[in-house]
Amino acid sequence: MRRIYLDNNATTPVLPEVFEAMRPHFCEHFGNASSIHFHGQEAKAAIERSRLMVAQLLGCSASEIVFTSGGTEADNLAVFGTVAPGDHVITSTIEHHAVLNACGRLQELGVELTIVPVDGRGMIDPEDVRRALRPNTKLVSIMAANNETGVLQPIEEVGRIAAEADVCFHTDAVQAAGKVELNVDKIGCDLLTISGHKIHAPQGVGVLYVKKGTALLPMQYGGAHERSRRAGTENVPGIVGLGKAAEIAHEGLGNGSVKRIETLRDRLQNELRKHVDSVGVNGDGAPRVPNTTNIYFEGIEGESLVIALDLKGLAASTGAACTSGATEPPHVLSAMGLSPERARASLRFSLGKQTTSEEIHFALELIPETVARLRSLSPVYNRSGY
Ligand SMILES: Cc1ncc(COP(=O)(O)O)c(C=O)c1O
Repeated sequence: MRRIYLDNNATTPVLPEVFEAMRPHFCEHFGNASSIHFHGQEAKAAIERSRLMVAQLLGCSASEIVFTSGGTEADNLAVFGTVAPGDHVITSTIEHHAVLNACGRLQELGVELTIVPVDGRGMIDPEDVRRALRPNTKLVSIMAANNETGVLQPIEEVGRIAAEADVCFHTDAVQAAGKVELNVDKIGCDLLTISGHKIHAPQGVGVLYVKKGTALLPMQYGGAHERSRRAGTENVPGIVGLGKAAEIAHEGLGNGSVKRIETLRDRLQNELRKHVDSVGVNGDGAPRVPNTTNIYFEGIEGESLVIALDLKGLAASTGAACTSGATEPPHVLSAMGLSPERARASLRFSLGKQTTSEEIHFALELIPETVARLRSLSPVYNRSGY
């Protein structure tokens, strides 16, 4: 069966060029970067080349890049590494669980926490961050782009507010990297997270940008790897893959590759609005990353639509978390004030560099007919006369 993958915010396929860059680092160039012999130095040089490529994507210096095991570890390092009991942290309702649950744990350890809300479009108000500041505020963590809706947050304004208050500012840019320009000086952040597998590098590798001079305690203890900011033998193939993917992501911002994805996303979104009744875009009216659209289909159970589309070969997502058999609507959509029905009727479609125009054409045939079929079977949809 033909399979179309529109769930690139969950993970992206490794690009062939990325895989080729990684390949020699498994069997041939296998050294431990801490070894002083040839093999070790070869591995170390490869890591340093990648560090430079990532630094170029973020507009920082290579020494400010810390490689981690992924976005979750980088978020945890940012949050746990900067805050102690008695401090105050500001974050938002729409953060990824890697930030929200880390902050929840901090609260259990005696850290004060303020969680600022979002409006109906899914955007925070930077003034809420300003108002939440306290004398003991140590960290502000606001994401760059939301994983469910793609909505871009006003992080440059938050950066200015945090800088004025002399508070550390972390942004989770996992879903923004490679989709919009990210320059740490322009953003005004002290810490920034990216994840390899969201930019066509492999799973299990990520980065925390740590601005020079930022006080950061490590989360794990061992060797002096990553300038003593992250102990543990480096994942050399993963880091090499991330470096190559960062280079490609950087080029993609200028060579039309991102623009092409945006055109396809807009076509998908606009044609669905035109050809399917009672649909809407969550986060409409807010600036969004170019690859994501989160659409609600009135009268539809999102999980049923994901399964029905999957059976026909199209992969999308509800972003729902399944807890003890019950399907919860994504916390992000609830935080935007969507009713549980509308949140549960919402699907996320996220495109990647491999997505073709023909695939979108196929999706545009499949989605309307599947929605119509599910609605025809739905007593709720028919009774409410949507
Ligand atoms: C916004 C955001 N932050 C953090 C993460 C976690 O990254 P990783 O899967 O590399 O641990 C994700 C992954 O879905 C994400 O979307």
